[in-house]
Amino acid sequence: MRITDTSDLWWKNAVIYCLDVETFFDSDGDGVGDFAGLAQRVDYLSELGVTCLWLMPFYPTPGKDDGYDVSDFYGVDPRLGTHGEVVELVRTAKDRGLRVIVDLLVNHTSDQHPWFKEARKSKDNPYRDYYVWRSDPPPDTSDQVVFPDQEDSIWEKDEKTGEWYLHHFYKHQPDLNIANRKVQDAIAKVMGFWLQLGIDGFRVDAVPFFLNDLGMSEREKHDFSEPHEYLRALRQFLQRRSGDAILLGEVNVPFEDQVAFFGGTNGDELTMMFDFVGMQAIYLSMARADARPLAEALRQRPLDRISPDSQYANFLRNHDELTLDKLSEDERQEVFAAFGPEPEMQLFGRGLKRRLPTMLEGDPRRLKMAYSLLFALPGTPVLFYGEEIGMGENLELPGRMAVRTPMQWTAEPDAGFSTAPARKLVAPIVTGGFGPEHVNVASARHDPDSLLRHITLMAQRYRECPELGWGDFRVLEQPVTAVLAHRCTWDEASMVLLHNLDPESVVVPLTLDDDEEGTLLVDLLQEGECRLDERRRVELALDGYGYRWLRVQRPGDRRLP
Ligand code: NOJ
Repeated sequence: MRITDTSDLWWKNAVIYCLDVETFFDSDGDGVGDFAGLAQRVDYLSELGVTCLWLMPFYPTPGKDDGYDVSDFYGVDPRLGTHGEVVELVRTAKDRGLRVIVDLLVNHTSDQHPWFKEARKSKDNPYRDYYVWRSDPPPDTSDQVVFPDQEDSIWEKDEKTGEWYLHHFYKHQPDLNIANRKVQDAIAKVMGFWLQLGIDGFRVDAVPFFLNDLGMSEREKHDFSEPHEYLRALRQFLQRRSGDAILLGEVNVPFEDQVAFFGGTNGDELTMMFDFVGMQAIYLSMARADARPLAEALRQRPLDRISPDSQYANFLRNHDELTLDKLSEDERQEVFAAFGPEPEMQLFGRGLKRRLPTMLEGDPRRLKMAYSLLFALPGTPVLFYGEEIGMGENLELPGRMAVRTPMQWTAEPDAGFSTAPARKLVAPIVTGGFGPEHVNVASARHDPDSLLRHITLMAQRYRECPELGWGDFRVLEQPVTAVLAHRCTWDEASMVLLHNLDPESVVVPLTLDDDEEGTLLVDLLQEGECRLDERRRVELALDGYGYRWLRVQRPGDRRLP
C-alpha cells in the first residue's frame, strides 16, 4: 500500500484536451457550439482517451479577445447555454471518467465588466481601486505590450478622470489590482463558485503578469510580503475547497524562473505549468532534424528544485500563436523557414499562425512521430481540439483566430458542426486540402491508419505506462543526432523511447548499463522484442520518422506487453 495512489495525483498522467465550446458542436442549429452539443460528444472524447477537459472561457463577453475579455466571471455566455447545461456537461463528463478544468482570469476583466464601468466613473468610486491607475503620463512601454500589432503602450488614458489604467493585453482588458484585498476576495469567490458546480481546477491565465503587477504595487497596500505569497494563498484556498483540484498555469518564462511558480520543492503554488520552452525546442529540433535542442531543454528542466507532485504539461500546439519567443533570433528564423516561411503564416514577429499538419505538409509519418513524441515526453500531454484528426488552419482569419475554426466532424461542407447556414457560423469552416471533405472525425474513425487511431493508441499506451507521467527520466547517450532516446523509470517500471526526427531510416546503438544481460525490450506499439547482449548493448532500427516505445521487461514483470 502506498500512501499516495496514482489516482490521487491524477494530473501526473492525465490526457488533457482543450476546446472552446463555441467551436466544438452546435446542438441547436444557431451556428454557435454549445454546452448541450459538447455533452453529446463526451463519449467521443472518452474513446479518444481524454481524461480531463480544459474549457476555454465560456463566460459572458463582448468577444473582443475570443472570450478572454470577461464581463461576468459567474455567468455563462447565453449563446453557449445556461448554468444548468454546464452542470449537465460536468456530470456527463464525470460519468465517463473525465475531469473538467476551466479558464480563470485573474489578471484582467473586460472594460465592459461592471467593476470597470464603475471604476472609471470617478476617482473616488468604490471600484476605482479594483484596477491599477496612474496620474502622471506613462513612459514609453511599447516594448512591454503583448500584442504589438494592436497596442503601443500598457497604459491607456481614460478621458473622464484624466488618469491612465494598466492593461498588459488589449486596452479593452484593464488589469485588475490584485493587491486590493477586495479583488482577492472576489477572485476567490469566483473559484469557489465554479468548484461548487463540480469543476476540478483552473487553467490560470497570464500568471506572471498579475504577480508582477502585485510586485510593483506598494507593499503596505496588501497583505503579502512578496507576490508569490498570493499564489500560495490561491492554492491554499483551492485545496481547502477541493482537495485534488489543480491550478494549471500559463507561465511562459525561462526554466530558471519557473521554480518559484511551482512553489519550489514545497509545490504549494501552481500544480502544473505548460512547458513553453520544451515546446519551442521540439520545433527547433524538428526543423533541424536534430534532437539535441530538445534533449538539452529536457535536461534543463529544474526537476530537482520542484516537488515530485508538480507536473509539466507538454503540448505541440495551443489556441494562441505558436510562440517561438524563447528561441534566439537565428533559431526562430530557422523554424520560420522550415514551417512558416510566408509573412501571412507568422504573427507578432515571434510566432506562427499554423497548425501542425500544414507545417509538416500533411506528412502522415512525421505527424505520427510528432504525436508519439508528445505522449512519450515526461509529463502530461495536452491536445488542442482537432489535433487528433489533423485539422489545418484558415490563414485568412485574423491573428490567432486562424486555428480556432469549427471542429470537423463529417465530410459535409458544414463539417457536421452545425445545421445553420454558413453565413451564421461562429467562424468559417476550413476549406481546401484540410477542409472537412479530407479531414473529419467520421472517416478517421473508420480508417485504421488515421491520425485519430494513432493518437487514441498513444493515449491508451500513455495511460498504461505511468512511468511516463510519474517517473524519473534521462536522455540516453547515443551517436545518432537525429534521434531522441530517453528513458523513463518509476518504481519497477521502465521504458526506453526513441524518436527519429529525420526522414532517413537509422540504427541506434544503445548501451543500458544498469540492466542485466538478457534483459528484454518489449515493443509496445508493434510485435517484437529484443535482448541486451553480454555487453548490455542493443541495436534498434528506426524507419524515417520512426518511433519506438520499448518496455524494459524485468523478471517477474506481469504487465501486459
Ligand atoms: C493568454 C491567452 O492564452 C490568450 O488567448 C489571451 O488573449 C491572453 N492570455 C489574454 O487573456
